[in-house]
Amino acid sequence: MVEVRKRVKEIDRAVDQSRIRIKDSEDLKAIDGVFDTSTLKTLYHLANKGYIDVLGGVISTGKEANVFHALGCERKQEIAVKVYRISTSNFRAMQSYLIGDPRFKNIRHEKRSIVFTWTKKEMRNLKKANSAGVRVPKPFDTRNNVLLMEFIGGDEIPAQQLRVVPLTRDQAQEAYDTTMDYVRKLYQANLVHSDLSEFNILMDGSEVVFIDMGQSVTLDHPNAMEFLARDIQNVVRFFRKKGVRIDDGDTVLDTVLVQ
Ligand SMILES: Nc1ncnc2c1ncn2[C@@H]1O[C@H](COP(=O)(O)OP(=O)(O)OP(=O)(O)O)[C@@H](O)[C@H]1O
Ligand SMILES: [Mg+2]
Repeated sequence: MVEVRKRVKEIDRAVDQSRIRIKDSEDLKAIDGVFDTSTLKTLYHLANKGYIDVLGGVISTGKEANVFHALGCERKQEIAVKVYRISTSNFRAMQSYLIGDPRFKNIRHEKRSIVFTWTKKEMRNLKKANSAGVRVPKPFDTRNNVLLMEFIGGDEIPAQQLRVVPLTRDQAQEAYDTTMDYVRKLYQANLVHSDLSEFNILMDGSEVVFIDMGQSVTLDHPNAMEFLARDIQNVVRFFRKKGVRIDDGDTVLDTVLVQ
C-alpha cells in the first residue's frame, strides 16, 4: 500500500510537472492519457480495496491501452493491470465526427463513458470465454478504465506473444489445434474474438492463451460472421507459415459453423 501510494505520487508528480512544462506537447498527451487524475483516483480506489499492493513496470504500451505488472492480494498474486487510455487516436477520430453536433456538447464525458463501457465489456467477454473453457486471463475486477486480471507468465516476466515464439512443426500443429478448439468454443458460447492473431495469443510455455477481448462481439452483431472469417484467416495464415498443413480459410470456417 505504501509502495503503491509512493508510485502513484511519483506518477502524479510527473503528470503535474509535464502539465507545467508544456501544455499541448504530444509527450504530455501520452502521459496524460494514461494517468489523468481520474485514472489515478481509480488506481487509489483499487489499491484501497486491496486488489493492488505494488504497481510494477509497464508490460506493454499499445494503441489503446497500457498494461502493467502488479502484485495484488497481499502480494501473493501477480496481476496484470490494463489501463485504457481516455484519449486515443480512435476516439479522436470519433470526436471529429461529433464536432458541432449539439447533442454531443460534452464530448469529453462521452469519450470517457465509451471507454468505461469498453473496459467492462472486456471483463465480461473474458469471463464468458473462461466459462466456455477457453484459456484466457481470469478477470478479477474492473473500475472505470482499469481492468485487473490474472498475469500470464511468472516472476514478472509476461508470457510471449505467439508471433515471437519459436515453434517446431509439431508444436505449431498442437498450438493450431488448440487455437481452433478455442475459436469453436467461443462460437458455441455466442462469442467471436474479432481481433484474433498472433499478437493477441500468448504462449505460456506450451499453453495457448487468448487475450485482448474488448472488441469481441456476440453473434448478434451484424458483422460477427465477417469477424469470425477474418479471425480464422489470420490464424490459418500464421500457422501455415509455421509449416502446419491447413485447408483454405473458408473450409476451416465451415468446420466451426457446423459444430
Ligand atoms: N494478462 C496478461 N498477462 C501478461 N501479459 C499481458 C496480459 N494482458 C496483456 N498482456 C501483454 O500486453 C500486451 C497488450 O495487451 P492487449 O493486447 O490486451 O492490449 P491492446 O490494447 O490490444 O494493446 P495493442 O494496442 O498493442 O494491441 C499483450 O500483447 C501482452 O504482451
Ligand atoms: Mg492486443
